[in-house]
Amino acid sequence: MTSFTVLGGPSSEQLARKIASKLKSKYVGCQLRVFPDSESKITLDDIPKGRIIVVQSVYPPVDSNLIHALALISQARKYSSHVYAVIPYMGYARQDKEFLPGEAVTMSLVAKMLKTAGASRVIVVDIHSMMALKHFTIPAKNVSAIEELVKHFKKLSLKDPLVVSPDLGGSERAKNFAGLLGVDYIALDKHRNRKTGEVSIRSSELHGVRGRDIILVDDMISSGGSIVKATEFLKKQKCGRIYASCTHALLVGDAEKRIRKAGVTKIISTNTIPGKTSIIDVSPVIVKAIS
Ligand code: R5P
Repeated sequence: MTSFTVLGGPSSEQLARKIASKLKSKYVGCQLRVFPDSESKITLDDIPKGRIIVVQSVYPPVDSNLIHALALISQARKYSSHVYAVIPYMGYARQDKEFLPGEAVTMSLVAKMLKTAGASRVIVVDIHSMMALKHFTIPAKNVSAIEELVKHFKKLSLKDPLVVSPDLGGSERAKNFAGLLGVDYIALDKHRNRKTGEVSIRSSELHGVRGRDIILVDDMISSGGSIVKATEFLKKQKCGRIYASCTHALLVGDAEKRIRKAGVTKIISTNTIPGKTSIIDVSPVIVKAIS
């Protein structure tokens, strides 16, 4: 039987402990020291043995959490040639191509850095796009939290629920979610101004949403702009309650407050990013991908 040590990074300690417990593996934590000039230093609490699973999510502060992931991987590589980088939320995945001339494709750089640091495999959860995954030249696997999210929604008593993707790009995700829940889905036509980031919904009047409870499904909620615009649009169509479900709730600034003010009853997300709304545990799907 393969023996693992799970190395929990500062951004994912609780999730890493859950993964270690499910794998019946040793857990090793680390100490983070931040110096007055903002440099940080990571020190492992113990020597990891066997294959090493580094768990470190790259949510805000993205650059700090990324450098901590790289430092952990690089240190782990000194003890093992099998270092699995579990990056539950893969920051920079939205920068997967040059949308406007001159834009750096930072996801490509991040993929190179993870490999250079010493990762032999990468596991991510609901990465923003499959194109982002293609930047890796080491085995990279995406696992989905949708089944775990759906299990939660099955327990709620919803009125004639309808799954809605805030944008056309999320149609496949909404289709999977709706399929597992056994309900219908639709996708709105969202437009984002690439220079200002401003979001607008281009869909025209919808039939068939009146009185129905809505589950807005997205991979992530960042500024909340997409969910707020979708909620305002759906409320105008006289829908029922609106739930927002996502894998990664970044909820930057006052996003949560604005989403609630727009009329969302509840936000449900996973522990790829710890927080108030992160009630769904993704450790089962990560463990399944490892073992
Ligand atoms: C966009 O393609 C993504 O799937 C999300 O809809 C988007 O990143 C959410 O960002 P925000 O909350 O800032 O609108």
